[in-house]
Amino acid sequence: MRPTVAPFPAARLRRTRKSDALRALTRENRISCEDLIWPMFVCDGQNERQTVGSMPGVERKSIDLIVEAAREARDLGIPAICLFPYTDASLKTETCEEAWNPDNLSNRAISAIKSAVPEVAIMTDIALDPYNANGHDGIVRNGEIVNDETVDALVKMALAQAEVGADILGPSDMMDGRIGAMRTALEAEGHSNVAILSYTAKYASAFYGPFRDAVGASGALKGDKKTYQMDPANSNEALRLVERDLMEGADMVMVKPGMPYLDICRRVKDSFGVPTYAYQVSGEYAMIKAAAQNGWIDGEKVMLESLMAFRRAGCDGVLTYFAPEVARALNG
Ligand code: PBG
Repeated sequence: MRPTVAPFPAARLRRTRKSDALRALTRENRISCEDLIWPMFVCDGQNERQTVGSMPGVERKSIDLIVEAAREARDLGIPAICLFPYTDASLKTETCEEAWNPDNLSNRAISAIKSAVPEVAIMTDIALDPYNANGHDGIVRNGEIVNDETVDALVKMALAQAEVGADILGPSDMMDGRIGAMRTALEAEGHSNVAILSYTAKYASAFYGPFRDAVGASGALKGDKKTYQMDPANSNEALRLVERDLMEGADMVMVKPGMPYLDICRRVKDSFGVPTYAYQVSGEYAMIKAAAQNGWIDGEKVMLESLMAFRRAGCDGVLTYFAPEVARALNG
């Protein structure tokens, strides 16, 4: 649709901007607490909180405190949370078995939240990096991140998470064929109602730096993730990936990072019309927080404006570390 404009002065586009009331009536997009997915970091211990230096305001929390945070999400009207484990270095191996241990930190957190706060949807992360001695999302053999063997491991991980009550699985590994393999296994094992939100267009981005600190993967990672995550120069490839993941049984798709890739969000939404999400990643959060702490920008206004950008770009929701802060701001 092409907007029409009458010649001046028949059209004075400032008329609809003249007051709060007129601006409210003509507003095209709104952000709501219901669009938010709150990512959180879980660590071992009891009543344990650890600050993440590169993500001001974000803490790793032990399971009891994560359960409290899930209650807070529910009370704020945030429909979903997403869990990332801080795995002890002693549990990281080259074969990554801890990833599908039914009793690992992440799985214990899922079942604790599920029984305490069943209304909140629990999203997970599926990738081997928290459990991998070399920090990669896949199994490494002779310097190569091997695809098919990794997919077998990811399927075990997915089933273990579904078993303890995960509602939305989030494969963030970028291996080929993983969505189909997971969907087939979930159907076969009686988990046909577990949703998959695929990290479909996940770019090899430098914006993930603070996250890797938060999950303790920074020291471990050898090399980069360019053989599996996307080249930031590409756009058409993202559409091929979305089509592929949908054909394999993904329910929802994600673009990641968020703000630098809003063009991709818009293309995905326009091309497929499926539930589309963006991940406003750790580096995006850190940049806004750091500038706000320096007094260089108004942190709250920039936060809200950044989230509006995702709605404008066609996203149905956003994973953001700002989730509780945004919800508090929106709820007044
Ligand atoms: C791991 C994973 C990453 C993020 C989510 N899952 C990091 C990576 O791929 O290296 C990044 C999230 C963020 O930066 O906030 N598979």
